[in-house]
Amino acid sequence: MTTHRSRSVSPDDVDFKDGIQEVDPVTGYDTTGHRWNGIRELNTPFPRLVLVILMLTFIYSVIAWVLLPAWPIGKSYTHGILGLTQEGEAISGFVAIEKTRQSWLSRFDKPDFAALAADKLLLAKAMPAAVRLFEDNCAVCHGQKGTGGPGFPNLADAYWLWSGEPKEIAQTITVGINSTDDDARFAQMPAFDSLSRSDRKKLADYVTALPQGKTSAKDPASALFADNCAPCHGDDATGGLENGAPSLADHSVIYGQDRHTVLTTLAHGRQGVMPAWSNRLSSAEINLLALYVAQLASKQNERTK
Ligand code: HEC
Ligand code: HEC
Repeated sequence: MTTHRSRSVSPDDVDFKDGIQEVDPVTGYDTTGHRWNGIRELNTPFPRLVLVILMLTFIYSVIAWVLLPAWPIGKSYTHGILGLTQEGEAISGFVAIEKTRQSWLSRFDKPDFAALAADKLLLAKAMPAAVRLFEDNCAVCHGQKGTGGPGFPNLADAYWLWSGEPKEIAQTITVGINSTDDDARFAQMPAFDSLSRSDRKKLADYVTALPQGKTSAKDPASALFADNCAPCHGDDATGGLENGAPSLADHSVIYGQDRHTVLTTLAHGRQGVMPAWSNRLSSAEINLLALYVAQLASKQNERTK
């Protein structure tokens, strides 16, 4: 045996003394009887605690196999005595949530908005749900906070096409505007291609100046407005809630009240579409949203006051 070979461990180097169990003088444990290059191995017992935990987990697993779904068998599986499924758990969870939701949502079945608005406890539960309903269904067009954007009216200000009364808002949501619903509200800004281009330009300048209050009755465009526009937008241009024509006298706009946009509106007309929600939301949900939208606007008013 060379010194070189003796460095790597090979069976030749191992000093087996099987059967001879010595007691380690330091720890008092038995040794296994193996010697590896003079190093002896203690025969330390496996900790009892670990054994007990192993036993318990094994017992638990057997109980779990019996009670719960466990083993795959072909295309199916062992269902367990309890017959639990994740699908079933989820459904019963939803049913429980829906039950608590219905417990307060059913209060909104009747559109008694004055009473609903006065019930602060009810609103504390309902308004967070209204925010979610709005975000899920309305925010795509009207924006997260209902402040709208080009083509989509701001619902959070005090200016209305139809009405800011919860009852009327509920009607708007139910049937829509220019929607496919049979009872839809109808609002159309006709194209004024019948007017000459120069008249349209005069009107555009007039309309652009309206919010600043810089128009006068002596303005020749004033007569043009009275003849062509006042029937819908009103003599004082403050709009008409009965036909959905917006006020042109304030700073709230749907499409825009700059000269270029007004010229486009006059040349081509406008007919925005607000979908009907009667077949997508329950009437309680619609009433809840109506109250929410009405309060959005009144909150904004409080802020600007
Ligand atoms: C597909 C886009 C779209 C969605 C989604 C939408 N709206 Fe509208 N909404 C409009 C448009 C466009 C108008 C204005 C129609 C017009 O120009 O006459 C409008 C008008 C309204 C009005 C009338 C405002 C007024 O001044 O009288 C209310 C109220 C309203 N929407 C509420 C809602 C609510 C609540 C939801 C969610 C359930 C919703 N909208 C979802 C496009 C949408
Ligand atoms: C038949 C009724 C009707 C007449 C007449 C009418 N309008 Fe309108 N107008 C509307 C309606 C309804 C809207 C809203 C359209 C929409 O929301 O899609 C509107 C929208 C507008 C807008 C867009 C406002 C905004 O906020 O972006 C302008 C500008 C406008 N009208 C100007 C005029 C002028 C100027 C005339 C006269 C030449 C006129 N309208 C005549 C019904 C009318």
